[in-house]
Amino acid sequence: RTTFRWLWRLTYLSAIGGIGYMGYQIYQLRTPEEQIEADPTKKTLVILGTGWGSISLLKKLDTENYNVIVISPRNFFLFTPLLPSCTTGTIEHRSIMEPVRNILRHKKAKVKYYEAEATKIDYTRKVVVINDESEIKGDTSSTEVPFDMLVVGVGAENATFGIPGVREHSCFLKEVGDAQQIRKRIMDCVETASFKDQSDEERKRLLHMVVVGGGPTGVEFAGELQDFFEQDLKKWIPEIVDNFHVTLVEALPNVLPMFSKQLIDYTEKSFREESITIRTKTMVKNVTDKTIEAEYTQPDGTKVKEILPYGLLVWATGNALRPVVKDLMAQIPAQKDSRRGLAVNEYLVVNGTENIWAVGDCAIANYAPTAQVASQEGAFLARLFNSLAKTETINAKLAELSVTQAKTSGEERTRIFDEIKELQRQLRRVKQIGPFEYSHQGSLAYIGHDKAVADISWLSGNIASGGTITYWFWKSAYVNMCFSTRNRLLVLVDWAKSYIFGRDVSRE
Ligand code: FAD
Ligand code: NAI
Repeated sequence: RTTFRWLWRLTYLSAIGGIGYMGYQIYQLRTPEEQIEADPTKKTLVILGTGWGSISLLKKLDTENYNVIVISPRNFFLFTPLLPSCTTGTIEHRSIMEPVRNILRHKKAKVKYYEAEATKIDYTRKVVVINDESEIKGDTSSTEVPFDMLVVGVGAENATFGIPGVREHSCFLKEVGDAQQIRKRIMDCVETASFKDQSDEERKRLLHMVVVGGGPTGVEFAGELQDFFEQDLKKWIPEIVDNFHVTLVEALPNVLPMFSKQLIDYTEKSFREESITIRTKTMVKNVTDKTIEAEYTQPDGTKVKEILPYGLLVWATGNALRPVVKDLMAQIPAQKDSRRGLAVNEYLVVNGTENIWAVGDCAIANYAPTAQVASQEGAFLARLFNSLAKTETINAKLAELSVTQAKTSGEERTRIFDEIKELQRQLRRVKQIGPFEYSHQGSLAYIGHDKAVADISWLSGNIASGGTITYWFWKSAYVNMCFSTRNRLLVLVDWAKSYIFGRDVSRE
């Protein structure tokens, strides 16, 4: 009984502690401290993008050291790992968005933000040309922003490999707008398939949901879509039960190539149990408004052409360079051999430049293009820039004092001498930043039916696990990693809402 009483007290106290902590976080979020003005005499640090790399840099950057300007067409940070859940309404998209303005108003010194796209980086003139691409434009919608230091964190585009018809007929899954479009189209296909006098063949086509690309984006989306069907659609609209079908098409011999063999097998087996068809060794070559044309490599190596009719086509075949990055690479001779992105050195400086750094999917630093890499790169740059600024300030003071010291004598000279010694001590204490080192924490992916797969780095080894317990780990890891307490609460509420009431099947 005593143990029980103590356990109860402990639970009670931790609940109060948890609520108190959350309350404090909300209070902090609502009442940021007064900011100091940006100092235009300091070096201008321009940051392009508001994704994983740039926001991680901004979060840890001491903004009072620089005149910081952020440029991005997206005025929010997007927590991409939960984006596939937005395509079916398991999570509402606004729950995983954090306004940039909210992030910036918590910085010590003010930061300027321009909602614009960088269309050209003029490396020799040290300016970025920016365009306002939003619907409402003022008299000025294109201008130049000069920089002393530039961080390129513009991410990547969707790769289509120039396959005809992809851009015209398929949906991508990279941005909030993509997830909203997919959500609308799923319901459009379902309602059109249920239209009066629809032929059997057309109903079958409309309810055939094809996902191209068996990387984590394609796999997670296929899993979410099948969940939507199993848990909600088939109960709300029973007439689609016999025809609704999800197919995942992958050019390689297996899906999820970055996961261990054991988890690849587990995922493929789970998909078969969930009735998701996996078509491996099938390379899509052409897309029309109603069909995809693919080439399947048979076990004997011969190739056969196949036509797959579809209602919804989601294209998830990885990343391609953005035009602004391609253009910058073309200006720098040292980048001429680089194909997949800006080649950077171990301090993330763009090769061939002195004052341009690159982070995330647009940089090639021998790591996979993931949020994990981008955020560690951003945090590294923040530490580097904070340390550079401290070193420069101390060095400037030292230079000034040495000049004064030469002109003085007696007690004053001794005082300056002591001051110089103290500054030299401070300089030694400023943490010297070594080269960037990526620490891989592991890979996680949701595969549908309340299961996830995880390759987790543990000590110097690796733990591979898949199933329902891994799914709960996936959920808690991602809710913890959400940008803010607000995001965390909203995601938890969304999960509870779709569990209790089912997902919303209305088409906006
Ligand atoms: P992004 O986060 O894409 O940000 C790029 C920013 O640049 C955006 O703000 C954009 O608006 C802005 N921008 C674009 N063009 C311009 C321009 N011309 N000028 C100025 N700004 C510009 N990774 C993981 O590690 N784990 C996961 O679970 C995971 N899940 C994912 C799920 C999905 C559906 C997707 C699509 C990706 C996922 N990733 C995941 C990968 C991860 O999202 C990317 O690797 C990460 O977003 C890269 O960060 P970034 O900062 O380079 O680019
Ligand atoms: P990806 O590059 O990982 O996978 C794309 C797949 O499409 C490849 O397997 C490729 O063989 C296939 N493909 C290419 N062209 C094809 C064609 N014509 N026909 C059929 N298949 C074709 O791309 P993805 O999934 O978009 O991921 C991009 C990055 O984001 C990766 O680095 C990934 O690790 C990361 N990411 C991580 C997630 C996670 O950790 N849970 C989730 C989503 C993305």
